[in-house]
Order: sequence, then structure tokens, then C-alpha cells
Amino acid sequence: MSKWEVAVTRRLPEAGMDMLRGSCHARLWDEDRPIPHDRLCALAEGADGIVCVLTDPVDAAVMEAAGPKLKVISTMAVGYDNIDVAEASRRGIVVGNTPGVLTEATADLTWALILSLGRRIVEGDRMVREGRFNGWGPTLLVGADFKGRTLGIVGMGRIGTAVAKRAVGFGMKILYHARHRLAPELEAAVPAHFEKLGDLLQKSDFVSLHCPLNKESFHLIGGSEIDLMKPTAYLINVARGPVVDEAALTAVLKAGRLAGAAFDVYENEPRLSPGLAELDNVVLAPHFGSASIETRNKMAVMAAQNLIAGLRGDVPPWCLNPEVRPITEG
Ligand code: DGY
Repeated sequence: MSKWEVAVTRRLPEAGMDMLRGSCHARLWDEDRPIPHDRLCALAEGADGIVCVLTDPVDAAVMEAAGPKLKVISTMAVGYDNIDVAEASRRGIVVGNTPGVLTEATADLTWALILSLGRRIVEGDRMVREGRFNGWGPTLLVGADFKGRTLGIVGMGRIGTAVAKRAVGFGMKILYHARHRLAPELEAAVPAHFEKLGDLLQKSDFVSLHCPLNKESFHLIGGSEIDLMKPTAYLINVARGPVVDEAALTAVLKAGRLAGAAFDVYENEPRLSPGLAELDNVVLAPHFGSASIETRNKMAVMAAQNLIAGLRGDVPPWCLNPEVRPITEG
């Protein structure tokens, strides 16, 4: 039996590549940088399936270039704002993602950023390396306290909830805002209190973003929202860059009207807003919230499982548009 033709936009961890090799002929973009859009269109030509990552816009042009054989698009990510799912559904293409397995790793990274930012770890590291550490000092790099402070979580899905649970151990009060309020027993289990976005921003000492990117959440945190925050507060973005108006945030940080911010994601990733990298009160991470070995292996396997199910004409196990009737061959 001939193998399915599959466009693979980045080399996956080996566990995923192994599964693909079993039943597919993988046309691999094997460079350590995102595939340019025109090359993606060329790679996808005549493919039965596409395995992509979050840096690849899989839009109508890519689907058109792939042609009528395309049955499944599988992304190795939980976020799928790079895929035009509505267009895929219109064309009868099933789309899969990798939810759940990256929750704990991403919550861990969020806390690594919160602690680094509040306790000025990166500034301290730079000071020591650059030979500017002259010994213990009573006011040397004094930072934030956590116990008794308020953490505001925007987007209380799996990752937001896991971040909140960790905050309990730090003795923090937890507020959250989400499109849908949690059931009372889930709120009580954390425990977390629902607030309107404006109230959460006004009351929180740390605001951590965990909502998906869509039309509603684009620039959810803009200049006027940042103005509601306490000047002593910190903002952490582990969601998607465009959830924050990065230029407005950079200006506020530069003016010292906010204590600091930590970023794992950027509005025009991988480019930064002018001036952001020069600021001391920021921690800048390279979009690696899910980057633990076990997590990335599991994500790769799930992406391969979604792909293979879709190629076989089954609904992928983690499907974003199960209403689409998969197209079977013949
Ligand atoms: C995702 O999966 O959406 C994260 O941003 C990267 O793992």
C-alpha cells in the first residue's frame, strides 16, 4: 500500500517522527527556523496531510495549494490561532491540536517567570556575571513579596487553573477573569474569586495571562487596561503576544508606571517592540512554556496520532472541528 504524502513543517521530537515514518512519506522542512509561507504552500502541494507548528499560518492559500486530497491538519500545539479552522471545516478538512499534556510544564514556566521577575533573578545574574556584585547589601536588588499578595489570572482554563493552584502554596489570594465563570465547586477547590477584568486589573499585584488568542482577546490588555493596574504590579504573558498591546506596555514600563513584565510570547514574534530589550524591569523568554522533554515528546506523539487518524478517515482524538465528516479514500 502506498504511503500518505504528508507535509511536515518542522522536525518533531523523535517519538513523533517515528510514528509518521510508519505510515507516511514525510516531506520535511528540516531547518531550524519557521518555514516561509510560499515554501509551505509548495511543500503542501498534493499532500494528504499537514503537520505544522504554531509559527506556520495554515490559511486558505496553503489549503488551496495542497489541493483536494488534503484531509487533515495537525498542529503540535494547544494554541491554534495560526490555523484557519473555519476554512478547513468548509473544505472538509479535520484539524487536531495537543491540549492537556502541556498544562503543567506551562504553569511551571509561568511560575519561573513570576519568581524571576518579582525577585529580580535575571538582573542579579547579569550583575554577578558582569563583575558588578560587590558583596551583600541591605537594599541590593530588593524585590516583591508573594505571601498575602493578589494574583489575577486572565483565562481560567487548564493552564490558568494550574497556575492558580501553585499560587496557593505561596499564600496568595487568587482572582480570575474568564469568558465563562467556573462552577462554584471549581472556584472553591482552587480557591479563586471571579472578577470583571477591570476590577481584577485594579486589585492584582501580579496579572498572569492565559487566554487563547482570538478576535475578542486581541489587545485585551491595551493602554487603558494597563493604566488600571497598580504602579507596583507586574504583568506576565504566557498566552499569545497579540493579547497585549506590546508597544503600549513597553512605553508604560519605560516610564516606570508599572513595576515590571515577563514575556514568553511577543506581538510580532520573534521580533520585539523597539526599546523592550533595553529595559531592566522585564524578563524575556523565547516562547518555551511547554519545553520540557516529556511534554514535547507527548505533544509530538499526539500530533502524529491526530494526523494518522485523520488520514484514515477517523475523527482525530483531539479534534477542533469534529463536526466535519472526515473524507475517506475511494
Ligand atoms: C502552544 O502549544 O500553544 C504553546 O504556545 C507552545 O507549546
